Amino acid sequence: MSTLTQNAADIVMNDVGKSYPGAPISAVEGVDISVHAGEVVCIVGASGCGKSTLLRMVAGFEAITHGSLTVAGTAVTGPGPDRGVVFQDYGLFPWLSVRENIEYGPRQAHLPRTVVKERATAAVEAVGLSRVAESFPHQLSGGMQQRVAIARLLANTPSVMLMDEPFGALDALTRTEMQHELQRIQRDAGITVLFVTHSIEEAVYLGDRVLVMAGGTAHGIPGHVREIVTVDLPGERDVNSPEFNAIERRIDALVHAGNTHRVEVPVTA
Ligand SMILES: Nc1ncnc2c1ncn2[C@@H]1O[C@H](COP(=O)(O)OP(=O)(O)O)[C@@H](O)[C@H]1O
Ligand SMILES: [Mg+2]
Repeated sequence: MSTLTQNAADIVMNDVGKSYPGAPISAVEGVDISVHAGEVVCIVGASGCGKSTLLRMVAGFEAITHGSLTVAGTAVTGPGPDRGVVFQDYGLFPWLSVRENIEYGPRQAHLPRTVVKERATAAVEAVGLSRVAESFPHQLSGGMQQRVAIARLLANTPSVMLMDEPFGALDALTRTEMQHELQRIQRDAGITVLFVTHSIEEAVYLGDRVLVMAGGTAHGIPGHVREIVTVDLPGERDVNSPEFNAIERRIDALVHAGNTHRVEVPVTA
């Protein structure tokens, strides 16, 4: 993996907000969090509470309209190769082979041909796609296509990985497999991850912390952080253990606690 590693970056948000032009209230308001380098933070919350908006601001696709947002100490002013993004719909180029999709970023960066080849080969191996490197996206299953998307990201050696419901379209078995795969890749690359998901189990399985968001313009309340839950489960996580389930239940209660600004959810929930 050494070909693909780059120093992980921290992400620091201070009172980050976003109001879209013409919208009566902010989509996101008052987000404060410091994501440590190499940390995995999952983001959960009902539809419309601003999860994607938050991720898109870190990606640099949307400008923040309030507060400050830095990655590795530098204010985010637009997209950059230090931040890789994976969406649910893969976003692969259908006319390029798996290998060409993965080489695309390093080529765009005008890296020497040998480096492009090295990176692509390492990324293909990292996600277990060596056998299908010359195939085209439409010839692959959804899980395999998402592996290509992850490999394409790794080939750019980003310091931050931003994932918006990346496994949402996969069947349950493939999804579990991809969660394990992502965990392995994340540990190998030591990369910082922000991961949006609808699945609380997925968030508790993958996250060092889980950012629970609430609100949303549909409720007349700006999207905001309700709570940041630390997943204090040492060692391999067992989704069937009582400790795991207790954290899941707590987050579930926070997610479903209605759309007021402040709620109290008992720790025993
Ligand atoms: N480009 C946009 N222009 C205007 N409003 C937007 C735009 N993108 C998102 N929003 C609004 O911002 C709020 C949060 O959306 P989003 O971040 O997509 O939520 P989530 O990902 O949590 O479902 C919603 O009310 C949505 O309608
Ligand atoms: Mg979304």
